[in-house]
Amino acid sequence: MTLESVRTATAEPPLAGGGLPLLGHGWKLARTPLDFLTGLRDHGDVVRLGLGPKTVYAVTAPELVGEVALSPDYIIAGPLWESLESLLGKEGVATANGPLHRRQRRTIQPAFRLDAIPGYGPVMEEEARALVERWRGLDVLDVTTESFRVATRIAARCLMRGSYMDERAERICADLAALFSGMYQRMVVPLGPLYRVPLPANREFNRALADLHLLVDEIVADRRASGQKPDDLLTALLEATDENGEPIGEQEIHDQVIAILTPGSETVGSMIMSLLLVLTEYPEHADKIRAEVKNVVGDRPVGFDDVRSLAYTGNVVVETLRLYPAVWILTRRAVTDTVLGGYRIPAGADIVYSPYALQRDPRSYRRAEVFDPDRWLPGASEEVPKYAMSPFSVGNRKCPSDHFSMAEMTLLTATMASAFTFEETRDSDPRHRIGITLRPKNLRLRPVSR
Ligand code: HEM
Repeated sequence: MTLESVRTATAEPPLAGGGLPLLGHGWKLARTPLDFLTGLRDHGDVVRLGLGPKTVYAVTAPELVGEVALSPDYIIAGPLWESLESLLGKEGVATANGPLHRRQRRTIQPAFRLDAIPGYGPVMEEEARALVERWRGLDVLDVTTESFRVATRIAARCLMRGSYMDERAERICADLAALFSGMYQRMVVPLGPLYRVPLPANREFNRALADLHLLVDEIVADRRASGQKPDDLLTALLEATDENGEPIGEQEIHDQVIAILTPGSETVGSMIMSLLLVLTEYPEHADKIRAEVKNVVGDRPVGFDDVRSLAYTGNVVVETLRLYPAVWILTRRAVTDTVLGGYRIPAGADIVYSPYALQRDPRSYRRAEVFDPDRWLPGASEEVPKYAMSPFSVGNRKCPSDHFSMAEMTLLTATMASAFTFEETRDSDPRHRIGITLRPKNLRLRPVSR
């Protein structure tokens, strides 16, 4: 951004309609966030929102979202991150900025490199097979519990190897489930001290948070006591040094473990739920996955090495990420006066954008609301404008785990679809549930063995 363009840009972005006196647009963002954010594109590429006394800038055009994600004028901050920071710590990679963030990314990146992923294959395969065995014994699946369970177990067992993880993975699952249900509320309705009132919901939230922190301390202490240094993310964190070559502090190690486990479980867990909904609601796509598995794999269980040959299954996963992106809202803060789409953005302004809204925009996608995995076939996918499909984000904050997650989700989808068909029970509620992530509200499925 040139200084000259910052000086000459004076126009304010248009104000979104429908704000209420005093409350502004906050009530819409709290009550019907997906419809509200999706509708903003009709007001402009950059739109002003009032959240109480605060002005927030919503970005609705893919090329401008790319500009925000790639520009050093914006950092990770804003209401989403502040609420996460207060719960999960300030020294983890997901909330740090500047040199600290760069150093932390250098430490964790090797664990997520493309050539590191096959090393996780055996754990992913083992967990996929255990899931099939477990589901064969269940009449009805509580899909929320089952999806978060397998996501947490895979993240914890791959990144922090060791048998001591098996029993703790269950505890991590239970704690994270309790925490995630309370987090979004704390983000959009920041009532501070009221969350300390000893109501049952607050007590459960605080218990889970305390246990999660305790668990992380136990995991770190056990690993140290074992004297072992397997080639994994936990070893990388324990051996990391700062800019002066000194070991990083205990608090940073602790916050880093939380900052990786938390998004790792919540996002993949939500996506597995959405993938199960897709397999249930679109049996024709589930049939095609089964045919692909039969053709590529035959009758043996799906293996990690099969994943790269399961092109159709992969496209179902990508299309599910497009229509049901687990990370449906992101925020940034401008660190300097800057210009976006010809509009002036003042230093300190909060920016918000929604992968959900961008990925359903008819200006970017033909038949945008239709679930069509074939739009990701080579030749067709080039039509999609740049940054109109970024479920893992782009730039220096891009999810380090994109390859890991794609391999995991493709393996699980192929395994689940070839072992079962699914029927929704009468008490199932597949509507969107909007929290820190987007997922079906309370999906309950009967697994019918094939
Ligand atoms: C960051 C999505 C799985 C760890 C992000 C961001 C997105 C995202 C959109 C960027 C946030 C931003 O731009 O502000 C997803 C999705 C996943 C997934 C859709 C699964 C389908 C995982 C897993 C892990 C993980 C499995 C770890 C095991 C992280 C971390 C960051 C991050 C540590 C922060 C990176 C940074 O700020 O430098 N993720 N994620 N994610 N994700 Fe993921």
